[in-house]
Amino acid sequence: MSLSSSELESLTALRRDLHAHPELAFEEHRTSQRVASWLAGLGLEVSTGWADTGVVGVLSAGDSGRCIALRADMDALPLDELNHFPHRSRLPGKMHACGHDGHTAMLLAGATLLARNPAFDGTVVFIFQPAEETEGGARAMIEQGLLERYGITRVYGLHNWPGLPLGHFAVHSGAAMAGTDQFRVLLKGRAAHAAMPHQGSDPVLAACALVQALQSIVARRIDPLDAAVLSVTRLHAGSAYNVIPEQAELGGTVRTLSPATQDQVHRAMEALCRGTAQGYGLEVELEYRAGYPPTINDGAEAERCAAAAARVVGWERVHSNLPPSMGAEDFAYFLQARPGCYVWLGNGEAEGDCRLHNPRYDFNDALLPIGAAYWRGLAAAVLPQARS
Ligand code: NI
Repeated sequence: MSLSSSELESLTALRRDLHAHPELAFEEHRTSQRVASWLAGLGLEVSTGWADTGVVGVLSAGDSGRCIALRADMDALPLDELNHFPHRSRLPGKMHACGHDGHTAMLLAGATLLARNPAFDGTVVFIFQPAEETEGGARAMIEQGLLERYGITRVYGLHNWPGLPLGHFAVHSGAAMAGTDQFRVLLKGRAAHAAMPHQGSDPVLAACALVQALQSIVARRIDPLDAAVLSVTRLHAGSAYNVIPEQAELGGTVRTLSPATQDQVHRAMEALCRGTAQGYGLEVELEYRAGYPPTINDGAEAERCAAAAARVVGWERVHSNLPPSMGAEDFAYFLQARPGCYVWLGNGEAEGDCRLHNPRYDFNDALLPIGAAYWRGLAAAVLPQARS
């Protein structure tokens, strides 16, 4: 059973309408209204106001008492769209450049199929979350008690993936996406005349040494078969040609695929900052801000999702051996709280710069029926009806 042609037409129109009216983190008011009214139209119990703009739809069938969640994200990105098709963004500085418009429409499509034929035993909670891109809308909804409120025991997510052939799935057992942290280091020395460096303590020289030393963490402290990235992306000091400045500031990002590695990098940075500052006669402050944790799929749930994907597109289009991405994803918070799995769905070859976070990106509407069938099949597989 699949979407009728009129349902597909309406969902495609909805997807394009969302694309034309992108909304940034925690501002997804118009989007969440459209989502809520679609869910209500299907006869689902609808709950709004989660983390301000989040929407939840609840569909129950049977009396097993089991409950799972399927999740989509709704927010757009702050950039100007460079596409010229009719459904391009109407709003300057805002664009659905990550396909969350498509994720929203696909989950509504899945809800449409499941509502029409609820061939499962239990409760499916459809989560439409705000603010995936930077603000952690998932965490906000979890902190408000979403998982406990409905007794959710399993969580599932999906992201379209440019560069993966259209309609192919990638399912990782274990890490799918990286954890992402930010850091800022302030080196405080003593200013001096540039011609008399011995009268001060130079934070510029120390900053240069520290940038190099920090690279030794990934090169020499982390297991070569593990993965980590440490990039210094900011380095600010001084303003004159003949003054050694009082302080230097550097900053950047750390990406890791496990909490243990994340912690190891953080501790090694602390040691190197302290040691470098001491060696150069300076004081140092390290501000390390943990961001999204790594997105880690449960092994058994990954197998389940791969099987559900295979039932839709065939095993030859389900890839279980792709490397994880060093990008990040706030579905990681759901996976920290409950077992589950986050899969990639191929958006097609990334021709014409149709890549995530690119001003020429667009979600491929051909994925709507595929995503819908995946969600329906997954819910049925995780919440099977008793055989009579
Ligand atoms: Ni995204």
